[in-house]
Amino acid sequence: MKKVKVALLGFGTVGTGTWQIINDNREEIVKHCGYEIEISKILVQDTTKKRNIDIPEDVLTSNFDDIVNDEEIEMVVELMGGIDQAKEYILEAIKRKKHIVTANKALIANFGKEIIEAAEQEDVKFFYEASVCGGIPIIHSIKESLTGNKIQEIIGIVNGTTNFILTKMTKEKASFKDVLKEAQDLGYAEADPTADIEGYDAAHKLTILASLAFNTPVIFDEVYREGISRIDKIDIEYAEQMGYIIKLLAIAKEKEGELELRVHPTFISKYHPLASVNDSFNAVFLKGNAVGELMFYGRGAGDLPTGSAVVGDIVSILKNRYNPYSLTQFNSNMPNKKVKHMDD
Ligand code: NDP
Ligand code: HSE
Repeated sequence: MKKVKVALLGFGTVGTGTWQIINDNREEIVKHCGYEIEISKILVQDTTKKRNIDIPEDVLTSNFDDIVNDEEIEMVVELMGGIDQAKEYILEAIKRKKHIVTANKALIANFGKEIIEAAEQEDVKFFYEASVCGGIPIIHSIKESLTGNKIQEIIGIVNGTTNFILTKMTKEKASFKDVLKEAQDLGYAEADPTADIEGYDAAHKLTILASLAFNTPVIFDEVYREGISRIDKIDIEYAEQMGYIIKLLAIAKEKEGELELRVHPTFISKYHPLASVNDSFNAVFLKGNAVGELMFYGRGAGDLPTGSAVVGDIVSILKNRYNPYSLTQFNSNMPNKKVKHMDD
């Protein structure tokens, strides 16, 4: 079996999810791209830290040079977060002709254009599906499947942590502080949860979605942003009494050639489909002038859902870059799976 060596930068929530999927779904992955993925190096801050997953000792490193100087490593998957260091590592890896996958929305919202240009110049791939809405394939849909449309509006719940907090405050009358701690323990929150609570994370995601949907470089600072830190139990109770529910929405609309871009808590009718998007789930409503209305729904944060998008990007790069045969499912050499008939 042909092997491709890949390095991870970061082995926290998303890094471990990615590792687990690559190991657990090895056979499926090979069927899709024809390659076995070997994670040969993982960059962490502290190689002595106790980890939940047993990994061979020589795989962990705290020295990026071990990765970037290794010519056998063809792809670098950045899952460490932060901006400056992540950007430096990604640009260095691109210079060494390594393909890049990242889940880092803060980085893309601020420096996406510069990184994409660097990747194009070196003719390497730069994929970032996991950066918006965890496991929901929203970026692929906008960049590929919906390109026959003029997209008119996007309305989404794009931050899992704040949706988790608002859901628990509404349904269980829980306190903001306790639920935030729970979201952090579950691995949903950013390293600094202010990014979630104050709406920065949702604004990063909206910057990415709007740039792609409206074909224009959106500047992060131009997104109006308001978080949920000032939402109190009393606001939630008032909303309920009036038949509403409070959600943190990210909204992008094109009106008469101008973009409206905003993230803020919003009263929505309890009968609206977004009202039933609970816990760490995300959802995005999108309107295109050909397709009409679409709604995407799924887990927006966490190890396996986000890892699912990361692995999808790795496989896409392997499929498109190295493997012209991409329709393996229709390859007559593949074993047929038995179909269960309704009357069996
Ligand atoms: P974690 O904090 O859980 O993990 C970060 C990992 O990166 C750790 O293994 C840490 O090492 C390592 N790391 C951090 N800084 C450095 C550095 N300077 N040098 C070397 N290693 C470093 O983060 P997450 O997995 O939650 O998030 C990673 C990225 O994915 C972020 O960009 C985040 O925004 C994004 N993301 C997260 C989602 C989630 O649900 N958590 C969902 C979608 C995207 P050590 O283990 O030694 O501390
Ligand atoms: N902190 C982010 C969230 C992770 O809660 O949505 C997923 O991007």
